[in-house]
Amino acid sequence: MHDPETVWDFATADRIKFGTGASEELGDELADRDIESILVVTDDQLRETGTVETALESVPERIDVSIFDGVEPDPGIAVYESAIATAGEHAPDAVVGIGGGSSLDVAKVTGALADSDREVLEYVAPPVGDGEAVPDSDVRVVGIPTTAGTGSESSPAAVVSLPDRELKVGISSRHLFPDLAIVDPLLTVTLPPAITASSGMDALTHAIEAYTTRRFDTKPAPDRAGDRPDYGGRTELTDMYAERAIELIAGSLQRAVNNGSDVEARRDMSLGTLLAGIAFTNAGLGATHAMAYPVAGENHTPHGVTVAVLLPEVIRYNSSTAVDRYARIGELLGEDLTGVDDRYVGERAAIAVESLATDIGIPSGLSELGVDSEDVPRLAEKTEEIQRLLVGNPRRFEREDLEDVLEAAR
Ligand SMILES: [Fe+2]
Repeated sequence: MHDPETVWDFATADRIKFGTGASEELGDELADRDIESILVVTDDQLRETGTVETALESVPERIDVSIFDGVEPDPGIAVYESAIATAGEHAPDAVVGIGGGSSLDVAKVTGALADSDREVLEYVAPPVGDGEAVPDSDVRVVGIPTTAGTGSESSPAAVVSLPDRELKVGISSRHLFPDLAIVDPLLTVTLPPAITASSGMDALTHAIEAYTTRRFDTKPAPDRAGDRPDYGGRTELTDMYAERAIELIAGSLQRAVNNGSDVEARRDMSLGTLLAGIAFTNAGLGATHAMAYPVAGENHTPHGVTVAVLLPEVIRYNSSTAVDRYARIGELLGEDLTGVDDRYVGERAAIAVESLATDIGIPSGLSELGVDSEDVPRLAEKTEEIQRLLVGNPRRFEREDLEDVLEAAR
């Protein structure tokens, strides 16, 4: 029997630079680290829109720049391997990821494994991979997000898709934290409304699930300090980040969708996303994310849309076990809950999420994403396997509870 946990730790990118125009300082940052060559990891569409050029404008000519623009949404092993092979050809001092979560994930792994002879799959967590320890490489990694959603710029993880198994797996290590995250809201003004909406709802879900995940001291203490799980449970520190994230996103997401050039809204979304990312990568997530992976894996729906559709029903299911948490969430979403009976608090918070999602054009149910009633038992079974997320959920789920919530979200 283990003693209860009494200690938490907290980690994020080594340095974070935030603000409109922050990307203009990339050149100085590279020069200060004596970097002579960089490999930019991005996708070809972002290159066509000129965003990559904008982000690289400050890089002085004496720094040798090579570009890998083969990142695709939900990148598979092959994308990771070819980015690493490109790094092998150029031997860069730093890898600079520019783009959404996929580009940043590939950049982080490319930097860490640039000198490794092993295959990427060996670093994936078991049972799919071997769970090899990610090396502490000398190659620096800079993450420059151009969406506001995933929080990859401040996280120690990367997601790898295995499409033939309809599965996503993760590589996780403290050596995957970027050395520098540069969050420049101006790089997000060209994001189309639909992507602003779905990535924004993903960030909101990160904040809400981080704020309601189980506390760190509900877990057993590890035998060794290094054995603490990545998702250690919520703490006073992660709560601060999550609360402010919910408030910022609730106040700006609709404006950012309606008018992409609203720089103040873009700034609040970028900051809210960053804070939500810091909160959940330390605290953990919950059942919304657990259910979203099988749903998105089978139906190829965007991650942000999938979590947005599931979140209100998970709130309804969870609310009785964490009323004070959902009351605070409701308030942060702009609801006046004075005098509202505890029994209705979760419902009000769920409705607040639903109306925000509806206002920004998110589908209203899983059936619109292609999920039929007959799919529900199989999706529930697959969700039950994602215990690393379910263990953080404030209320326990039996198989039939998962089925009920999935059916309610249809
Ligand atoms: Fe997410």
